[in-house]
Amino acid sequence: MDSTAKPTQTLIIIFGAGGDLAWRKLLPAIYNLYLDNWLPENFMVLGLDIKNMTDAKFQQHVHEGIDKFSRSGKAKKKDWAIFEKSLMYKKGDFNAATTYNFINQQVNLLEKRWAGVCNRIFYMAVSPSFIETIVTNLGAVGLAADKALSRIVAEKPFGHDLESAKHLNTILCHTFDESQIYRIDHFLGKETVQNILAFRFANALFEPTWNRNYIDHIQITVAEQLGVENRGGYFDHAGALRDMIQNHLLQLLCLIAMEPPVSFNADEIRNRKTDVLHAIRKIEQHEVYKHAIRGQYNAGWVEGKKVKAYRDEPGVDINSKTETFASMKLFIDNWRWQGVPFYVRSGKRMNETRSYITIQFKPVPHQSFPAEATGNWQPNSITLNIQPRMTITLSFQAKRPGLQMLLNPVDMLFDYDESYKTGTPEAYETLLLDVMQGDTTLFMRADQVEAAWDVIMPVINAWAIDTPVNFPNYPAGMQGPEGSDIF
Ligand code: BG6
Repeated sequence: MDSTAKPTQTLIIIFGAGGDLAWRKLLPAIYNLYLDNWLPENFMVLGLDIKNMTDAKFQQHVHEGIDKFSRSGKAKKKDWAIFEKSLMYKKGDFNAATTYNFINQQVNLLEKRWAGVCNRIFYMAVSPSFIETIVTNLGAVGLAADKALSRIVAEKPFGHDLESAKHLNTILCHTFDESQIYRIDHFLGKETVQNILAFRFANALFEPTWNRNYIDHIQITVAEQLGVENRGGYFDHAGALRDMIQNHLLQLLCLIAMEPPVSFNADEIRNRKTDVLHAIRKIEQHEVYKHAIRGQYNAGWVEGKKVKAYRDEPGVDINSKTETFASMKLFIDNWRWQGVPFYVRSGKRMNETRSYITIQFKPVPHQSFPAEATGNWQPNSITLNIQPRMTITLSFQAKRPGLQMLLNPVDMLFDYDESYKTGTPEAYETLLLDVMQGDTTLFMRADQVEAAWDVIMPVINAWAIDTPVNFPNYPAGMQGPEGSDIF
């Protein structure tokens, strides 16, 4: 598959086109693909939702979203005048056969107008409770039948636990072939996340030390200063473990820990990542307390502003036991990683907004420098900053200038923004283009999703039984609950 070629003519059908995800992320991403000349000449978006809107009203709504959220800033008149023609809207009930007949008609009309078949991408930007009805109805009208042209995109959360994820997979796979299914984990579309593969496998320098002989431990952290915003209703039923660790953080761990792929074939990469998930040591439910820590934020201060406790957020139960911080210590039982702990942690209302991975190397085997030279000795580390800064830092010892032999830790820095002046595409741009081009590499296969649930199920089960008595246990704007940094 040629990822440098523009996709062929395409219709994207967005279920939930009036919702937040479509407004903030999907439609601005499509607009930027248009600006960067990635869209085919024959291209349409059909927005579907329960809200009543004309095409013109929908276009205006999308325009506002782009002006607010697009990385390229406000839409220019000239660009918008062309782009808006590719947006149409239909009020539709996702349970009604008429909605799917309408989609079918549109596909036929466009294919006639465009004088040839087109890709049909069904994007489910909806609550998971709609997936079954959408998939079944698409199947019933024959819209899933063409394996090459019809593709379906499923957003997270993909299930609530292993059992419900399996159920969703059964539903999807009953109607669509696995090759047609694109389960999104938007972290995989981030530039710095894709760069992990380049960093590890396009360089001879790092791979020889990337194992238990040289690495002491690895930390993967996604810290957010944001609280739950307007998503309290969803988050209170999910929690940080399901919302972040099951997907984003375990995917980062797979990229860091996977074996070198033989090729960049989608299944080859996904097989190597799935191997990692299968090799993660199973945590016994009665030992979860040794391997996982949870927390919930109280009121506090973030960047000089007073913020509410989680339990006071809209949509959240006033006695909620849901964790807004989760941290796990994992081991990977294979030759490369035996004995190396992987710490994954994620929290809301933390002291900083920063996603990063630290590879902490072991100390040198023998210290030949005198003690006075090495007062501030620190073992080597590599830090991959995913966001907001996009950098890689290699920390090592160097001689301080002067007449004595005194050593100091120093950093070597690669900074995306300094090295490349071009703008960085948003994760959704990369992922939407991949769907249009039919490239599944950055998407989650059914077995991957299930393997990731399998890793966290003992923690989910243990935490469900053993409800926390000390929540809230960290003030907003701090580093998480006490003890979260000790294992
Ligand atoms: C989403 C989670 O998947 O990722 C959110 O549901 C979280 O809770 C978000 O805030 C973080 O993504 P990003 O790209 O903003 O770092």
